[in-house]
Amino acid sequence: MKIIETVAEMREFIAAKRQAGKTIGLVPTMGALHEGHLTLMRTAKAKCDVVVASIFVNPTQFGPNEDLDSYPRDLAGDAVKAESAGVEAIFHPQPSEMYSAGYATYINVEGITDKLCGKSRPGHFRGVATVVSKLFNIVQPDTAFFGQKDAQQVAVIERMVRDLNMAIQIEVVTIVREADGLARSSRNTYLSKEEREAALVLSRSLRLASEAAAKGERKAAALKSLVETEIKGESLAKIEYVEIYSYPDLAEIEEVKETALLAVAVRFGTTRLIDNIIFNN
Ligand code: PAJ
Repeated sequence: MKIIETVAEMREFIAAKRQAGKTIGLVPTMGALHEGHLTLMRTAKAKCDVVVASIFVNPTQFGPNEDLDSYPRDLAGDAVKAESAGVEAIFHPQPSEMYSAGYATYINVEGITDKLCGKSRPGHFRGVATVVSKLFNIVQPDTAFFGQKDAQQVAVIERMVRDLNMAIQIEVVTIVREADGLARSSRNTYLSKEEREAALVLSRSLRLASEAAAKGERKAAALKSLVETEIKGESLAKIEYVEIYSYPDLAEIEEVKETALLAVAVRFGTTRLIDNIIFNN
């Protein structure tokens, strides 16, 4: 497996694969790879001849008081895991390779980026859309793979691809969880033992809502309140948001009739975790 650090070398690698008639799958990540990322890579390998994973802790999607500097980085460990999941090349540019001096161009998906994580992390999705479109331009994949764990991110990328006529298929992979229900996340490593235990309230509260919906509860307010009450029962948890929107257009709804997203963001100490479920009616 190759580790490629420059855009020029990445383009050469892709050109050779294209010459040989291979299809290309791209899995964008920020590294500190876990089973969620590896599932995306294995899914990509099953669908595409060649899988490229990017590992880039993208500075433009972090706010000034966020964890850009402390975000876990482990290229050597990631390389071993990615190779075992079928990745042929890792694209691992330095920030200066992606954002050279005088960099001035950003992609802004409007509307759906104002709510949920976009509300508490202003500029986050502008950074995500920008880096993902740059990665699409550099790797030019047939298909790119994203996790439902970041459901709003999926909505933003799909909107961008449609709006900008990008010839790339987006595949979404369901949330990969620990055995006890906690959604896998690179940020789980920040949790103390007590916070790790407390964080189970996320999947537990979503499960309650899912069970209520299965029994016929359709009122968005009632489903939201079930989740809020459960999370408030956990003293280490501080709710940032609990919201239900139609999906993927993220419009306000009173009743869960069509596909809807129930999404939560909760802080445990300084660690912010997100989780969600999608109701498919
Ligand atoms: P990162 O958080 O590293 O996640 C990379 C990809 O893995 C995303 O598509 C994310 O949704 C997916 N993923 C993470 N945890 C998952 C889980 N438990 N189950 C399924 N998929 C999971 O998301 C980003 O990086 C960045 O914003 C990026 C798209 C790379 C742009 O910088």
